[in-house]
Parts: sequence; C-alpha cells; structure tokens
Amino acid sequence: MVSNLYGVPTVKLLGVREMPMIGLGTYARKAEPGQFRQAVEWGIEAGYRLIDTASFYNNEVEVGQGINNKIKEGLVTREEIFVTTKLWNDRHAENQVVESLKESLARLNLDYVDLYLVHWPVSTNSKGEDTEIDYMETWRGMEKCCQLGLTKGIGVSNFNEEQLVRVFENSTILPEVNQIEINPTLIQSEMVRLCGDLGIIPVAYTPLGLISEARPEFIGKDIIKTDPGLGELAEKYNKTRAQIALRYLTQRGIPVIPKSFTKSRIIENFDIFDFELSAKEMDFVSSFNINHRCVPATAFKGLKNYPF
Ligand SMILES: NC(=O)c1ccc[n+]([C@@H]2O[C@H](COP(=O)([O-])OP(=O)(O)OC[C@H]3O[C@@H](n4cnc5c(N)ncnc54)[C@H](OP(=O)(O)O)[C@@H]3O)[C@@H](O)[C@H]2O)c1
Repeated sequence: MVSNLYGVPTVKLLGVREMPMIGLGTYARKAEPGQFRQAVEWGIEAGYRLIDTASFYNNEVEVGQGINNKIKEGLVTREEIFVTTKLWNDRHAENQVVESLKESLARLNLDYVDLYLVHWPVSTNSKGEDTEIDYMETWRGMEKCCQLGLTKGIGVSNFNEEQLVRVFENSTILPEVNQIEINPTLIQSEMVRLCGDLGIIPVAYTPLGLISEARPEFIGKDIIKTDPGLGELAEKYNKTRAQIALRYLTQRGIPVIPKSFTKSRIIENFDIFDFELSAKEMDFVSSFNINHRCVPATAFKGLKNYPF
C-alpha cells in the first residue's frame, strides 16, 4: 500500500510509524565534490523519501544540503523525508552517543533524524583498537537520543542473532530495525525469520550484491550476472537484473537502500512497484543464495564483538 505521507509503499516500525520500503544509500569509497548532494537531489526528485547515511560515510554535510535544497524548493517537507544516520564504532561509550548524534545533526543541518543506528556492535578507539565497550552500554546512550527528541527511533546494524536478541531483551526503548547485508546471493533466511519473530524490521544494505557493477572482483561467484534464466525473468517483466533483486527483497517485506551516483540508475532502482514475482519466481531468485558476504568487515575480525 502506498503511504499518504511518503507516496511509496512503507513498513511499520514496531507496528506504529512508517518507513519507506525503498531508500537511497549514500556510501561510496570515493566521490567527487558535490556528488553526494547531487545523488540525494536526484533521488528526492525521483520519489525516494528515505535517505541512508552515517557519520562514517563522511558525507553528512552534502547529504543534508541535498535534503535541505529540496525542502527549500518546496518539493518536499521535512516530515515527508525519512533520514537515517549511524553512530560510529569509536563513540560507543554511553556519554558519547548523544554528543555524536548532535554532531551528525549539525553536519546534516537538521533538527532531528528519523532513525539512528549503532553502525556495528564492535567498539574501537580512533586507531581501530578494541575498546570492548558493551553495546548494551551504547544502547543506553541511544535511548537517551530518543528521549531528547534528537531521533524518532533507534536501531542497530550488523548485529548477529545473539546480539540482536540481547538488545531486544534488555532495552527500555526497542530497536526498530537491524540493517544488514541482504541480496540474492546472501538471502539471510534465519535472520529475517528472527527479526519477524521479534517485530524488528530487517533492512537490506548492499541489496544488489554481486549484481552490482561495483563488484567485478567476485568473478566465478557472479553467475547471477550472466545466468540466462534470470535474464529471461527480467525480460519477462521488462526490468533489469537489479530491479528483479530489489523487487525480490521488497516482496519479502524487506526495505532496500540501493546506492547510485548515476541518475538513470537512481530512477531505475526506484521503479520496482509495478510488477509482482510469482512464488516460483521468488524461489528461483532465492536459489542464487551462496551465503556470500560482500561486506565481511574483515578489518574488525578479532574484535570482541565481531558479529560474523
Ligand atoms: N550498515 C552498514 O554497515 C552498511 C554497509 C554497506 C552499505 N550500507 C548502506 O547501504 C547502501 C547500499 O549498499 P552498497 O552501496 O554497498 O551496494 P549496492 O547499493 O548494492 O550497490 C551500489 C553499487 O551498484 C551500482 N549500481 C547501482 N544501481 C545499479 C543498477 N541498477 N545496475 C547496476 N549497478 C548498479 C552503483 O554504481 P553507481 O553509483 O556508479 O551507479 C554502486 O557501485 C550504502 O550506500 C549504504 O547507505 C550500509
């Protein structure tokens, strides 16, 4: 059902407030000056109402400019945009969390965000060394951000099943989402089932996975890029493989946040709500699962709360 507020299909967080089923991802290792702002502006023009950023992405200033430009132009109001940002690993002490969100808000030039996430369960100092802070301590700081009205809701990212259950069982304010990698080659059936049981929404990052042209390094695992059956399925609906992947995820009830700097792809990725895959076609897309992580975060391996 298309939401009155956002004009796109939405999910209900904790059964209450809405979040768009599709958002614009904004992580890039490299970018030209202005590229993040431009992508956000194109995204909002194309109909995206959810924008995903993080303090780690070093782009909150430009992301905020893009959003505020479109508000100033009168294309959207602040209420019609859902903004997610994230707390980085080196600010996990309880008394650093509120301050860190305030800094993000200053960079974004916004009074509040709609969702604030603990980016990873691991904690480090600025040199990347383990500080072993319990993420439940961090969660107390997250709850404070909610109480102060700096964010409408809070959640986690990259938490494994045990970590997610622990937050769920020990929180005063419940986590609304767990943002994790999900795509046709990493379908995450168990985590998605657990989230369903807990009433937490799994959000799919890197939703294009090995379909994305950004990942030529996985030669041999990228059958999904060449499989003729998937090609035929895309052709049947007059869609691309990327659109099939995004449709597959949203049809499982999983919101997606594909990133692109390319205007035509930003538009393409949003155009997934006018067709429906059959149960058999859903199973076919699931059959590409090889439990392959595009984002294994090996740099965090060995840290106390490394999730994978
Ligand atoms: N919480 C976390 O730890 C975490 C981790 C990773 C990502 N994320 C979030 O999730 C977002 C999405 O993940 P991601 O950026 O890793 O991967 P992604 O969205 O699956 O793929 C992005 C890449 O695919 C290309 N692309 C976009 N649309 C395409 C299409 N229709 N056909 C072919 N290629 C296409 C883009 O290229 P161009 O830009 O050149 O068009 C870009 O290189 C991030 O931007 C970030 O916001 C969060």
